Amino acid sequence: KYLQDPQVSKECKDLMSTLPNDRGWVLPVMYNYQGFWHNTWHLQGVLSFQKHFQAQDTDIFLVTAPKSGTSWLKAISFAILNRTSYPISSGDHPLLKSNSHELVPFVEHTYADDPTPNFASTHPRLFSTHVSYVSLPESVHNSKCKIVYMCRNPKDLFVSAFHFTNKLRLEHMGVNTIEEMFDLFCKGVFLYGPYWDQVLGYWNESLQRPKDMLFLKYEEMKEQPGTEVRKLAEFYGCPFTPEEKEDGIVDAILRLCSFETLSNLDTNKSGTLTMTGMSNQAYFRRGEIGDWKNHLTVEMVEQLDKITEDKFHGSGLKF
Ligand code: A3P
Repeated sequence: KYLQDPQVSKECKDLMSTLPNDRGWVLPVMYNYQGFWHNTWHLQGVLSFQKHFQAQDTDIFLVTAPKSGTSWLKAISFAILNRTSYPISSGDHPLLKSNSHELVPFVEHTYADDPTPNFASTHPRLFSTHVSYVSLPESVHNSKCKIVYMCRNPKDLFVSAFHFTNKLRLEHMGVNTIEEMFDLFCKGVFLYGPYWDQVLGYWNESLQRPKDMLFLKYEEMKEQPGTEVRKLAEFYGCPFTPEEKEDGIVDAILRLCSFETLSNLDTNKSGTLTMTGMSNQAYFRRGEIGDWKNHLTVEMVEQLDKITEDKFHGSGLKF
């Protein structure tokens, strides 16, 4: 459905005919809307999200660029926020039965299929999105909702995206070469990219509103996971109690959400996502820092590092 026959409104079609376009990583074309790149289906979702979404001050948004460790952040956040209803060590925790993308769907994917979705009435509501800061609905900008943004080193993110999108391409589409995709990525033509602009939008906003926005890095989550999980629980307003800490809750969450646990579950080995039909397995590859060393040439590394340095210069953001 997402790859072959996205249903879009006349408004979306009319808009698309006016937008700059370039080649996509999976589909033939992507469109640039408000400075960021979208496939047809995603664009429909962003437009409906902007038009219809009503934020509540208690909402929580998990935001990432694709391939930044979104499914991991979703799993950890779901586990923290729902630990009273779903004790972490219970044998039938929802994360053992469903991919984290099912438990915390992308809000724009939901809107791509239904302009008036019924969101759960739980408080807080937990949403996720890849949408850039400027393109978030006005009601999100104007609310006090909490936003967690997790970014990832662009070299690893690019390599992850290269592998992922080749898995998504249907057989007749052929396989993309790393050189072609590298050129597109460096030009900024990447789903919800340019990568650097998306990161900077949230980084700058997090400096203005540190109480409402938490900025995380995939690399720090890998290197000091306990610290980051405690930080998240505090940010969500539900810090771990001394009893929970004594019972080892942080380690239990990390075990439940680890690459090893999640990637070996039946649901993630053989299941598909309801919304997109994509294979859950595609979301698990290596889950490591530094795999770019196995894929990028010296020239590619120099070029990407230079772009990153130039783009992030003066922002205080470093990789
Ligand atoms: P690699 O392709 O480098 O292995 P996203 O969830 O945003 O699509 O990101 C996917 C990346 O996160 C992939 O990176 C994937 O392997 C990694 N990943 C998935 N689950 C993870 C987990 N539980 N812990 C750490 N990394 C994980």
